[in-house]
Amino acid sequence: MRPVPPAPSPGAPLRRRTVAAALMAAPALWLGSRAQPVASRRATPAQTEGPFYPVVLPRDSDHDLLRNGALNYPEGQSAWLEGSVTDLAGKPVAGAQVEIWQCDHAGHYHHPGDGNRADRRFQGFGRMTADTEGRYRFRTLRPVAYGGRTPHIHLKVKLGQRELLTTQLYVADDPGNPRDFLWRSLGEADRAALTVPFAPGSDGLQARFSIVLAA
Ligand SMILES: [Fe+2]
Repeated sequence: MRPVPPAPSPGAPLRRRTVAAALMAAPALWLGSRAQPVASRRATPAQTEGPFYPVVLPRDSDHDLLRNGALNYPEGQSAWLEGSVTDLAGKPVAGAQVEIWQCDHAGHYHHPGDGNRADRRFQGFGRMTADTEGRYRFRTLRPVAYGGRTPHIHLKVKLGQRELLTTQLYVADDPGNPRDFLWRSLGEADRAALTVPFAPGSDGLQARFSIVLAA
């Protein structure tokens, strides 16, 4: 029989990174543990940045992508995207900067690599700072498919000058998901973390995306 590893002494301080590393390496050790606050959270998986992060940030880069300067964008399906930014222990990461970028309803980005063809009424990029409870909120478009990609929104989280996460989020039950090479490459748990419903709400669609940072 294999020896049972000794239990940590009560009150022994465990650094968060140590705990996180242990969880990644040996989930069987923590599934039965009482130390649930860490075990119940999983870091949001990273994905590639893609080729269309803005070369120059738009003059208007606030949380409302459906209003670019004085211009309103009436196309497509409007949606609220909101959630919170926390660490693995569930502590809000106040002051985290959340950025999103995506194509317009016709599938074009504000980017020279896409011919700068995006509708100028669509802001295409937004940034906001998470509040003291780690909350963020964007008004944007339900993403659409383009060029072989299933609908997705790109997302980046920074704290000061540090980039903590770059990823993409997907629309639950979109028929394009199973054909998308990046979505298909995700394991089951990562898919679940990055794929969220865009459900009808009182003011357009509503989507909730929780961001859990590993460090
Ligand atoms: Fe994209």
